[in-house]
Amino acid sequence: MENKTYYIITLGCQMNERDSENVAGILSDMGYSEATARENAGIIIVNTCSVRENADNRFFGILGQLKKIKEKAPETIVGVCGCMMQQQQIVDKVREKYSWVDLVFGTHNIHMLSELLGNIIAEHRKIVSILGGSSEIVEGLPSKRMFPFKAYVDIMHGCNNFCTYCIVPFTRGREISRSPGNIVREIENLVKDGVLEVTLLGQNVNSYDGQKGVSQTGDARVGFSELLQMIENVQGLERVRFMTSHPKDLDDETIAIFGNKNSNLCPGVHLPVQSGSSRILEAMNRRYTKEDYLLLVEKLRAANPDIVITTDFIVGFPGETEEDFDETIDLIEKVRYDSAFTFIYSPRFGTPAAKSKDQVPEDVKHERFNRMVKRLNEITLEKNKLYLAREEEVLVEGVSKTNAQMLQGRTHGGKLVNFPGEVGIAGHTPLGHIARNDSSGAESLIGRIVPVRIVDVNTFSFIGEMV
Ligand code: SAH
Ligand code: SF4
Ligand code: F3S
Repeated sequence: MENKTYYIITLGCQMNERDSENVAGILSDMGYSEATARENAGIIIVNTCSVRENADNRFFGILGQLKKIKEKAPETIVGVCGCMMQQQQIVDKVREKYSWVDLVFGTHNIHMLSELLGNIIAEHRKIVSILGGSSEIVEGLPSKRMFPFKAYVDIMHGCNNFCTYCIVPFTRGREISRSPGNIVREIENLVKDGVLEVTLLGQNVNSYDGQKGVSQTGDARVGFSELLQMIENVQGLERVRFMTSHPKDLDDETIAIFGNKNSNLCPGVHLPVQSGSSRILEAMNRRYTKEDYLLLVEKLRAANPDIVITTDFIVGFPGETEEDFDETIDLIEKVRYDSAFTFIYSPRFGTPAAKSKDQVPEDVKHERFNRMVKRLNEITLEKNKLYLAREEEVLVEGVSKTNAQMLQGRTHGGKLVNFPGEVGIAGHTPLGHIARNDSSGAESLIGRIVPVRIVDVNTFSFIGEMV
């Protein structure tokens, strides 16, 4: 009998998670249900990421494991998709070394999945189908969402920025924005289904450039701050977040919305800086200076002194000197981030920076990485301590990963909180929200917004008590 179950392995960023929701939706529409484990799935799909070398390596590691499954159960269909597949040298490698993979597709043709799978099943053959790009976003794909109470909403695809280290513009193509009407309608439907929080997704949401209706006139364009205002008006939507922002495009109109106390825009912004050295920023093609960036942070804090600011750094970009690194440390001291991701520069095939003769030696990269992370973590802890004894509204996301007696959720600003609470206790919900039920029929806090007092903090999370 045909095994009509699927298992999806998602690597990489939120955009990939969103794409995997579409993959799951398409498979569900084809009559497949989710398998409990990859070993007993009829179809296994790996959605890949190529942003750093270790992402590539993880994929090849997973393929090694899947080969064993395929040997035991040759009828299992293995499909691979995502950013790695938009690179010819990777597709060639998969075809040569992993010729047992049944289906290869890319980031631009997820909508073709049912047709491709249909052909594989009917004709017992392998298919490689990659599109080089797309000129429009396919709307209305079926979607199986990961959470009932929060959702990712892609507002634009692709990236035009070509930061010299980055593979994304090659794997995701040029920027295209969804129409504001389609975005708002999707959010309205999500809210009707019980979603309280949406995160708007794009590689650079600040360059969102949507078009209202079918008019070709200039005034029909909608920028990011206008889109945010349209979304703010969706009745019943409690929280809006967005990622990622690009410092060169974050405008005053958007910053002003952070200052509006009645807005449902959450007071948190992820603003990747990459480096504190203006010289390195120029070599990265980031198109802002250290001073430009510090001015933005000043404006954000002027709009809302409580705003949670997080960032990404790349350490060891080609040509980075000790002086450049000192500039980065100086920026860290000036901004005092709530938290930060630090990445060791990883040369990506085909990007300009990978061709530079000035690569920083591995030991130097690691030494700088350690120094930087240590200082970032100290500051994070200091900043977290400011939350002690404060009462925060927490959207409860589930049972804590580290302690089954604890629930876990996020504050308005996006900080992670663990607090004792059983799945069966009723809490305060904003008016109009229907309490959800767990399988035992008891009222559950999961998926609700509850007031929590912060009683202890560490670097990566808070401990709270329900008020
Ligand atoms: N569009 C987003 C996300 C890009 S990828 C943005 O512009 O911020 C997420 C992060 O990965 C980047 O911010 C950068 O810090 C890091 N990154 C991208 N390419 C990298 C590379 N080649 N080596 C190391 N880190 C990289
Ligand atoms: Fe990559 Fe830069 Fe585009 Fe972000 S803005 S996806 S770092 S090229
Ligand atoms: Fe990775 Fe592609 Fe996202 S390279 S970070 S999955 S856009």
